[in-house]
Amino acid sequence: MGNKFSKILKKSASSPSINVQEDSDFRYSNGRRYHNVESVKYPLPNDDEELDRLHQQHFLLRYVWQRNFAAPVKHILNQNGSKVLDVGCGAGSWMFEMASDYPNTQIIGLDISPIQPSEIKPQNVSFVKANLLNGLPFENNTFDYIFQRFLVTAIPKDSWADVINELTRVLKPGGYLELVEINPIPFQMGPVTSQYLIAVEKMLKQRDLDSQVAYKLRLCFEQQDNLENITEEKNRLPYGPKAGKLGQAAAENSRLVLSNSKPFLLENMKISSEEFDNNLDISAKEFCEFDSYHDTFCVYARKKES
Ligand SMILES: C[S@@+](CC[C@H](N)C(=O)[O-])C[C@H]1O[C@@H](n2cnc3c(N)ncnc32)[C@H](O)[C@@H]1O
Repeated sequence: MGNKFSKILKKSASSPSINVQEDSDFRYSNGRRYHNVESVKYPLPNDDEELDRLHQQHFLLRYVWQRNFAAPVKHILNQNGSKVLDVGCGAGSWMFEMASDYPNTQIIGLDISPIQPSEIKPQNVSFVKANLLNGLPFENNTFDYIFQRFLVTAIPKDSWADVINELTRVLKPGGYLELVEINPIPFQMGPVTSQYLIAVEKMLKQRDLDSQVAYKLRLCFEQQDNLENITEEKNRLPYGPKAGKLGQAAAENSRLVLSNSKPFLLENMKISSEEFDNNLDISAKEFCEFDSYHDTFCVYARKKES
């Protein structure tokens, strides 16, 4: 495939590294732990606090979508030896559930940060440490199903097409690719929340990340010659009393996202560190009062047989 990854891949594809932790994998700042790859723009920490938030976010999303996946792959997942890849797998929450629901399937999680358990995990789960933006360290046509969720703050605007080409390259003909993304900028925001979200937009722009990519996924899929049967589904991640416990949990999750992004947001906000912290409470209330919500999209497609 003639994208810019193919050149990098020649150097890196043959040697996937398992997720052994090395000191050089991490950078520490103000008591938080981050990935340590300078060229990677992903801003969130990767310490235990953030892993807990990712687990919580997984349960929110499973509730919103009332499922873990949408592509018609149940028959594939039930076949002995099927191979699934979760790209940017984070804490591995999705993988652990899939591994227990589909014990005959091998599920491989790829992430830039080796933050997943290396021993206490289902036997059909394994992890690979790799930078997705350097190309995927797998041979062509390796996986039956590929899932990727919430990499809006990880993949630069101009790299989405290359990433989708690369995901398609390692997908088997007849296999399915599924991406789930969110517009991180909610609708119906209160005034205090808006201050944070203006800073979020600035931070994403400074890092060449595309807050609106969720709306463009379908088009990215359509521009990939090898994908067919493209399906797009849209949903809302709601806050507020109408959304019940889900609304409260979503507000708590957003509060943590903002709090975990504090060092990068504060530099774009004209408020003190104390105000930043205090306003988080106000913002969490506003999310509910204003019935704010996020758009979230799921797009999936099949790789053509030839
Ligand atoms: C918001 S989390 C989503 C985690 C998971 N997909 C989920 O839905 O729970 C994004 C993940 O992408 C990983 N990531 C960011 N940039 C990456 C890169 N260039 N290559 C591989 N993983 C990356 C981060 O380490 C993080 O675990």
